[in-house]
Amino acid sequence: MYLQKRNRILRKNAAIRSMVAETTLTPDDFILPVFVDEGENVQFEIPSMPGYYRYSIDLLLREIKEAWSLGIKSVLIFVKAKDEEKDNTGREAWNPDGLMQRTVKSIKNALPDMVVMTDVALDPYSIYGHDGIVKDGKIVNDETVEALVKMSLSHAAAGADFVAPSDMMDGRIAAIRKALEEGGFTETGIMAYSAKYASCFYGPFRDALDSAPGFGDKKTYQMNFANRKEAVTEVLQDVSEGADIVMVKPAMAYLDIIREVKNAVNIPVSAYHVSGEYAMIKAASKIGWLDEDKAIIESLTSIKRAGADLIATYFAKSAVKILQG
Ligand code: PBG
Repeated sequence: MYLQKRNRILRKNAAIRSMVAETTLTPDDFILPVFVDEGENVQFEIPSMPGYYRYSIDLLLREIKEAWSLGIKSVLIFVKAKDEEKDNTGREAWNPDGLMQRTVKSIKNALPDMVVMTDVALDPYSIYGHDGIVKDGKIVNDETVEALVKMSLSHAAAGADFVAPSDMMDGRIAAIRKALEEGGFTETGIMAYSAKYASCFYGPFRDALDSAPGFGDKKTYQMNFANRKEAVTEVLQDVSEGADIVMVKPAMAYLDIIREVKNAVNIPVSAYHVSGEYAMIKAASKIGWLDEDKAIIESLTSIKRAGADLIATYFAKSAVKILQG
């Protein structure tokens, strides 16, 4: 057989394949999400996220130091609020001595160069488990934005490098940016969850923080997973309002959205490989239906190939260990 072109030549052996690989994962790609609890020596395994824990600050620091030594340069902090701290205003979210604020200070104190990102949304602090203030059964936009601004300022004051609003209220990026400028926080960035979909894949996360919505769902603020163009609208708006990094969330069922967003903007794009995506790989591997390490690397590579410059993933540490061999 005479063939002008044999594509298999570039797949002949591992050396050639790695030379021509279009996508390579490195520790710089990853953001490690962490769950924080009050107390000391607390290590709680999240039932729907086997192998993933909620830690008190002392043990969290040990985890984060290990991540740093592996080359992971960024963490995204989520805290579990106590029941008595929850209400319908979110007040505890901007307590200067709150768990989030203490966590940021402790990490920055122990590892000043670690890039610390903080979750900005009211759900952990809401008696209703919603990302905003509830009035007459509705999540009210503008009052929520005022709360998110206070929350962001308190995270910046604690030393956060980036605030990461995950709430999907309208206009919050502009409001937060203005407040940061006026507050003198000219070095604090905003990673905007710009295209965040109303997804069933957040289930295990809500277990981790005890933050499931008490009524209804999040479809009046998070996006409809049927939509693609709307993601571009959301993202471009957040860019114009002053976002430094935009995010698509979840990741694996949304690779088309990641690519669309990557093509539409000139700032870094992040993707959140969420709790349900972690749980699926863990569950299938546990019963021997998938090879966990291979599933992790293939998933994360596909997210990067789709266009993500950064990937928030519960597999960050595992991935780096696998890549190191
Ligand atoms: C809430 C928030 C959620 C996640 C991050 N921030 C859940 C939700 O929107 O209900 C999900 C992350 C994950 O599933 O890993 N502001």
